[in-house]
Amino acid sequence: MNDVERIPTYVKGLDELMEGGVPKKHIVLVCGHAGTMKSSLTYSIIYNAYKDRGIKSVYLTLEQGKDSLYTHMEKLGMPSKGVDGVAIIDLAKIRKDVAMDKAKAEKVDWLKSIISVLKHYKERFGFDVLVLDSLAALYALTTFKNPRAELFYFFERLRELDITIFLISEIPTDRNVYGLYGIEDFLSDGIIHLKVEQTDAGANLYLGVVKMRTTNHTRSFMPLIFEDGRFEVVQG
Ligand SMILES: Nc1ncnc2c1ncn2[C@@H]1O[C@H](COP(=O)(O)OP(=O)(O)O)[C@@H](O)[C@H]1O
Ligand SMILES: [Mg+2]
Repeated sequence: MNDVERIPTYVKGLDELMEGGVPKKHIVLVCGHAGTMKSSLTYSIIYNAYKDRGIKSVYLTLEQGKDSLYTHMEKLGMPSKGVDGVAIIDLAKIRKDVAMDKAKAEKVDWLKSIISVLKHYKERFGFDVLVLDSLAALYALTTFKNPRAELFYFFERLRELDITIFLISEIPTDRNVYGLYGIEDFLSDGIIHLKVEQTDAGANLYLGVVKMRTTNHTRSFMPLIFEDGRFEVVQG
């Protein structure tokens, strides 16, 4: 045993296979193709962390708008309107407006702005876990001159927030990487990979913990199911 403090994933069957969960202050990539339940899974972690332990979170979305996210989570049995321990910062609309106007987008340093919004929010509201949904959406706003250097710098600023961070990384279906620039995996402390496999019976979802620093963890991909409002991995 080690005495690292952890945040459980609240995926039934998984936490005991990774010493109780994700070490606090880790930056963890949650990656997979579209529709692999990345948003649902990370939301379920912060939703349950607040219900179970009073841990406060921020879900910063550049993808689904706030209303759509609320409806989605309510359908999954996680009603969140008015739950003040799970705050949604909705930049999805701003992102869409900006996407229409490239010249405007280029005037804003999005990486810097997002860090400053988060810093400000942390001082005011105080939160311990961040979900950023998604890296791909953030990249779409950013004009990188030197992506590797700028991403390195961005991860350093994220670390200075001194909280646990889940970065959702949507992988294009034609590529086999964890992040679009191929360096997100080594800049992160952990990688949770979600993938779909087609079988005769339909499409099955699998979860694998590919990397988790300071943790003894399973490396096997296990079927991930969602039932009665909670995630569960099935061990073979
Ligand atoms: N077992 C399930 N129960 C409920 N919804 C499911 C289930 N499996 C898949 N879904 C649906 O899968 C879709 C994708 O989930 P989402 O978290 O938005 O994925 P991603 O963020 O990876 O694109 C959602 O619309 C969700 O409702
Ligand atoms: Mg999503």
